[in-house]
Amino acid sequence: MNSFDENDQRNHPRADDSEFTQMANTLLSRRQWLGVTGVGMGLFLGGQRVVQAATTRSPSQAGPRMGFSPIAANTLDTVTVPAGYQWRVLASWGDVILPGGTAFDPVTRGTATSQSLSIGDNNDGMSFFSLGADHGVIAVNNEYANYEYLFAHGRCSSIEDTRKAQAAHGVSVFEVRRISGVWKLQHEARLNRRITANTEMRLSGPAAGSALLKTMADPTGTVALGTFNNCANGRTPWGTYLTCEENFNGFFGSAQSLPENAAYKRYGIGAKDAGINWHPFDGRFDLAKNPNEPHRFGWVVEIDPMDPTSTPIKRTALGRIKHENAEVVVNADGHVVVYMGDDEKGEHIYKFVSAHKFDAKNPQANRHLLDEGTLYVARFSTLEGQPHGAGEWLELTHGKNGLTAEAGFKDQAEVLVHTRLAATVVGATTMDRPEWIAAHPTQAQVYVTLTNNSDRGVKPQQALNGPNPRAKNIYGQIVRWTPQGNDHTSTSFTWDIFALAGNPVLHKDAYAGSANITPDNMFNSPDGLTFDRDGRLWIQTDGDYSNAKEFAGMGNNQMLCANPVTGEIKRFLVGPVACEITGMAFTPDQKTMFVGIQHPGEKLAPSHFPQGGDAVPRSSIIAISRRDGGMVGA
Ligand code: FEO
Ligand code: CA
Ligand code: CA
Repeated sequence: MNSFDENDQRNHPRADDSEFTQMANTLLSRRQWLGVTGVGMGLFLGGQRVVQAATTRSPSQAGPRMGFSPIAANTLDTVTVPAGYQWRVLASWGDVILPGGTAFDPVTRGTATSQSLSIGDNNDGMSFFSLGADHGVIAVNNEYANYEYLFAHGRCSSIEDTRKAQAAHGVSVFEVRRISGVWKLQHEARLNRRITANTEMRLSGPAAGSALLKTMADPTGTVALGTFNNCANGRTPWGTYLTCEENFNGFFGSAQSLPENAAYKRYGIGAKDAGINWHPFDGRFDLAKNPNEPHRFGWVVEIDPMDPTSTPIKRTALGRIKHENAEVVVNADGHVVVYMGDDEKGEHIYKFVSAHKFDAKNPQANRHLLDEGTLYVARFSTLEGQPHGAGEWLELTHGKNGLTAEAGFKDQAEVLVHTRLAATVVGATTMDRPEWIAAHPTQAQVYVTLTNNSDRGVKPQQALNGPNPRAKNIYGQIVRWTPQGNDHTSTSFTWDIFALAGNPVLHKDAYAGSANITPDNMFNSPDGLTFDRDGRLWIQTDGDYSNAKEFAGMGNNQMLCANPVTGEIKRFLVGPVACEITGMAFTPDQKTMFVGIQHPGEKLAPSHFPQGGDAVPRSSIIAISRRDGGMVGA
């Protein structure tokens, strides 16, 4: 989510129509886009322009089957899925998962203690770990708290409130079982666990122990408390869960004025917090008292969901940014590659390549793969006006590419703690808010959602560029790349735009979107992105749900399914009022898909999801299946 993020388009005035027309005149015409993306049109794959007619394709060239009837946009306060599909609520904010918990109280919305024994608020990225055909464990992020619902009095105004809010953040881990065909939360199962903003964690990798990570409470710079603003996720082939710290900056503040600090500024850290209001009650969040505490956030955290006593580990080798997700790929040669986006306007896309190789036969050896390796940031090159091109990965290693003491980086720890500053030094491409990254399950092809960017073409350092081609980009796009030689460790790649979201009813120019965007599937602000094992690409939105003006006809936030070969996109799900759809996971048989419904009714919008009536709206995970028992999406 991005409501802490001042970059959220919803906080910015929109350009009027004449501005749009003017901007569009400088962009590609819709006809040009038609030639690049879409059913039966040319595709730019693996660096080669491939043009095929749909009628001559073999089944593999046709891509995965999407055998459901797409649904229309709507603004209902419920979940809508295609004919032949069903959904049920699996778990909601406040559901008890640990012994001693108390059932959700709709009047008080619980205490700090009850919240620490229950599922946190605002479920986001999640993974499913199978324990057998009808048994598994779900790890899910709890990104932030909706104070308008968490507190009956609407704000955080005491230490008790602070502890309750801190307990609503982090990660929830819980077992689920399929009983008579229905997946059910297991309330006090062995693996259930809450990880909150106060859970003890270890910092590991090259920055651990650095002076920048030391605080009064932790003079070693290796022991941190908690994780928060955990946006999306990753899952390793050795069975661990990765949770990604995103807008951590907004949790810090101070009543005192603070000295100028370029790194704070780049990360949006300052005396004014994002309305979280922890710092008056918990000195750890007061920047005047603990100036290094924010350096201990903005990391990817690895959690073992099979051991509720294990210590979560912050992997500093993966860099400190506003992490969206961490897409893990095992390269053909065994190196582990992690792709990561930094979700802020004009920030960058990163990848980590492990120094050592994944060994399926030696699970214990894999436990440290994310501590040693090379971090890179992407530079996209473009032929002017072309929606495809080449690119390179620039190494973020101390002593290389200008990352020297003279440039402000004493050692590799400083490069990692100030990853964003290092990316600028090496010349990374500014992107339109990189959200999730998803790698194709069988091909070396990687997709990223660039959700929107009101600063594109407005701020001088964010001029239009190939993968970010529209000024005041209110709709967003999905860009993909193929590493050279299908080798994820290569420093070269080719890229193209898979989908440029838009409104083809209102616009005829680039704001109409690419050819695969139609009046029947249009959406804005793509965010969640995951492949299923058959290569269907699932897209979730966190956009403007006003269904008005530039967004007329798009309805509530939604989930779509795309065929990466043909470019076809079909709407699969529409969420309830004022929600974001985020987080998805499949059971191994792909007969159940778990989907996150985050913040229904945010800012007191009229939602009572999921209970209905006059109930308090609650973020929830739903389970979707086919009535005929078939595979979801097929
Ligand atoms: Fe938490 Fe970038 O969304
Ligand atoms: Ca997101
Ligand atoms: Ca978003």
